[in-house]
Amino acid sequence: MTTENDRTAKAGGASFHEMWRDLAPLGRHRDSGGYRRYAWTAADADCRAWFRQQAEARGLTYEVDRNGNQWAWLGDPLAGDAVVTGSHLDSVPDGGAFDGPLGVVSSFAALDELLARGARFARPLALVNFGDEEGARFGLACVGSRLTAGQLTVEQAHRLTDADGITLPRAMEAAGHDPDALGADPERLGRIGAFVELHVEQGRALDLSGDRVGLASAIWPHGRWRFDFRGEANHAGTTRLADRRDPMLSYAETVLAARREAELAGAVATFGKISVEPNGVNAIPSLVRGWLDSRAADQPTLDQVVDGVEKAARSYAEAHGIDLDVVRESFTPVVEFDHALRDELARILGADADLRVPVLGTGAGHDAGILSASIPTAMLFVRNPTGVSHSPAEFAAEDDCVAGVLALADALEGLACK
Ligand code: GLV
Ligand code: MN
Ligand code: MN
Repeated sequence: MTTENDRTAKAGGASFHEMWRDLAPLGRHRDSGGYRRYAWTAADADCRAWFRQQAEARGLTYEVDRNGNQWAWLGDPLAGDAVVTGSHLDSVPDGGAFDGPLGVVSSFAALDELLARGARFARPLALVNFGDEEGARFGLACVGSRLTAGQLTVEQAHRLTDADGITLPRAMEAAGHDPDALGADPERLGRIGAFVELHVEQGRALDLSGDRVGLASAIWPHGRWRFDFRGEANHAGTTRLADRRDPMLSYAETVLAARREAELAGAVATFGKISVEPNGVNAIPSLVRGWLDSRAADQPTLDQVVDGVEKAARSYAEAHGIDLDVVRESFTPVVEFDHALRDELARILGADADLRVPVLGTGAGHDAGILSASIPTAMLFVRNPTGVSHSPAEFAAEDDCVAGVLALADALEGLACK
């Protein structure tokens, strides 16, 4: 019988450790300890160079697609019915080390594990790093996979702009990628038979159930809404309270309303990003712009929360003489992962008597969710003992990560090998 120690001593575990160590310093902020790996920046370029080097070191066929996603192929990329695994290397502001990179590093480690097992592949295998999953720089999540799946038009992508006024095409061009090439890529998706994304769990379900690895059932519908509260800039010392049109007040009341609506509905709602003009300590703001991220188990509940927050915001704005615009910047409907693929993975992983693989839903968005509208997709989650994510404190123990690598290797072997 194979023991846990024998299993973790295999090739996948050793290569995981080395890759993790090499990737760890890239894009890490000295003071916060968090990652600032934003799309098409120098830190992103370092991560992309790392991916390319891993691909080339293994003799895989390396390519960058029209939307800037990186691919590493074992077997003929044009043969069709490929099995693909991977995730993303970019981060949220001061993100953790695991959200995204765990899936990419585990893909290479799982391949190493399969090659060490002497696996014989019957289908092409590709590893992928999707560009700009978090949307930290241009405000829209999953840009690389959305473009590829035709869920974001070239015109919409060309209009995306960062906080410094740099458009996505300019940022891509500066990083050496041709923005004129952007666009839907049905031909590429047509060559993929299954996509499996491994990801750190962003909650504590596995910790609570005592399992190392889980399978995804569904992703909650979620979106981002921009609330622009416009008032009148004025002197903070000399303007009578009664004479003010201060948009910060209606913004603050709206934050509390979002919390209330989410609690009532059993959903979540977060204002995590704000920009203020003119942003002076001694000036009443002229504009407060806040971004609402809201998610719920089903669409009617999400609609109810967002409608409730908007209604409350409008009444607070009116009471303070504030103009309000609300714009939906992105939306992802509920995702039910492919049942046949999930059952197949449950069957494959169920062959290991030491591994129990519960099925979990999640409120987090993923490239696998975007692609699920076009191709069969599945996700594996790795235990996160604190549940913390999108924070420098995000963590998963190395032996759990290696258990994830071995589960991914088993999954890929079951899907792609003779
Ligand atoms: C991505 O991690 C998201 O769920 O926003
Ligand atoms: Mn994330
Ligand atoms: Mn992620």
